[in-house]
Amino acid sequence: MTNKIYEKIDEIKNEYIKNNELYYYIETVGCQMNEHDSEKISYILEDMGYLPTTEVEEADFVLFNTCLVRENAELKVLGQLGSLKPLKEKNPDMIIAVCGCMMQTGEARKIILEKHRHVDIIFGTKNISSLPYLIETHFQTGDLIVDIDERDLIDEQLQMKRSHSFMGYINIMTGCNNFCTYCIVPYARGREDSRSPESIIEEAKDMAKNGYKEITLLGQNVNSYGKNLENPITFPELLKMLNEVEGIERIRFLTSHPKDISDELIEAIGDLDKVCENIHLPFQSGSDRILDDMNRRYTHDGYLDIIKKLKKKVPGITISTDIIVGFPGETEEDFQETMRMVEEVEYDQAFTYLYSPRPGTKAAEMENQIPRDVMQDRFERLLDKMYKIFYIKNQDYMGTIQEVLVEGKSKKNPNILTGRTRTYKLVHFPGDEKEIGNLVNVKIKGHNSFALNGEMVR
Ligand code: SAH
Ligand code: SF4
Ligand code: F3S
Repeated sequence: MTNKIYEKIDEIKNEYIKNNELYYYIETVGCQMNEHDSEKISYILEDMGYLPTTEVEEADFVLFNTCLVRENAELKVLGQLGSLKPLKEKNPDMIIAVCGCMMQTGEARKIILEKHRHVDIIFGTKNISSLPYLIETHFQTGDLIVDIDERDLIDEQLQMKRSHSFMGYINIMTGCNNFCTYCIVPYARGREDSRSPESIIEEAKDMAKNGYKEITLLGQNVNSYGKNLENPITFPELLKMLNEVEGIERIRFLTSHPKDISDELIEAIGDLDKVCENIHLPFQSGSDRILDDMNRRYTHDGYLDIIKKLKKKVPGITISTDIIVGFPGETEEDFQETMRMVEEVEYDQAFTYLYSPRPGTKAAEMENQIPRDVMQDRFERLLDKMYKIFYIKNQDYMGTIQEVLVEGKSKKNPNILTGRTRTYKLVHFPGDEKEIGNLVNVKIKGHNSFALNGEMVR
């Protein structure tokens, strides 16, 4: 199947793109899964002959890779799509495509079909391999082409144009079976499906051969990796196999669900030298009653037990989380349980969200939706507390020497490099851009709540 796609791409290139200088522009919203999908789409478009541009005005092919996890993600895309209308009127040959999670729901597609008739191609999250065919059909007919039949198989990975040459994502599974009551992801990404370990290892080896040092394994719920395989294996077993890949120096993974964290996984993080001392472990709410209403299937104390084990087995481990403020029925006492959790765990980083009702989920139907001003007030109190904790956590790094993978130049100052420690702390330091992609040692000399700074040492 995959080979056929690349033959088709060649055909389109020869037939339609020819030697014309055509540009593509991609806007990606949402999580790392979407970012990674956009890397695959970029490869297809560039193989076809399109050149990348960061100016939507000069693009011949514009793609929106969408997210619907919260309402504002949806509104952002719809707003931007609207603003393309005048551009398309000026340049009727411009192709506008929309893909990603929003396109997995009938409601969102209906909005596009009714209100955004300037869109030419719509495809779902499991139709990326169809893109060449969709583009060809559009070139032939000029019609609106929609493809949401789920076609892509997890073991038939597409090639991709990675954003970096030294660190990158590897998709190990798709979908989610958990149905947290607030969350639309299981409806958008379907049920859990794991990629074979052979195919994953092959990709990691290939990356190592090409000089990649860091890999980040992606899945909505990586701890349940491998359960549906013909020869089931566990996620820690996969980590052990990847730890053997020569050339790879750092292994990260996203996202873990607290209910599935096994002792075996905690041991693996501690024992495997390449697995980084950092975990993203969303707790969402500190209140047992709310956790139950969210269908999270763990308790406040159960979550704390995992944290205790992690800190004991993996010295220096950093912990980040996701928190939802204002889930239906959340009282001030419930919220105080969330505040307590933040203090008890001492997070290094957190993504905090105002609850956003998603049509089609159970929570959207619940009574006692929380008024906006109450949510906002809790949200601000939570951020206030967290920033103080982050500050104190970063203080512990003062004077230490950290291994940093140099990711690029600082946006604000071209003489400053940025990178990350194994514990995922962001570090700024003066240096030459030839260090980008290298592992260097940095002595930490300053910090705020969000980053460290220092100087390179031998
Ligand atoms: N699979 C991952 C991430 C899912 S989406 C996980 O389970 O952790 C990322 C985050 O978005 C979630 O962790 C949650 O905190 C937040 N989120 C999901 N649905 C939401 C909603 N309806 N309103 C507000 N935040 C939401
Ligand atoms: Fe959504 Fe819950 Fe699945 Fe995460 S585990 S994707 S929050 S349903
Ligand atoms: Fe959004 Fe889809 Fe990711 S809904 S958070 S892009 S899985």
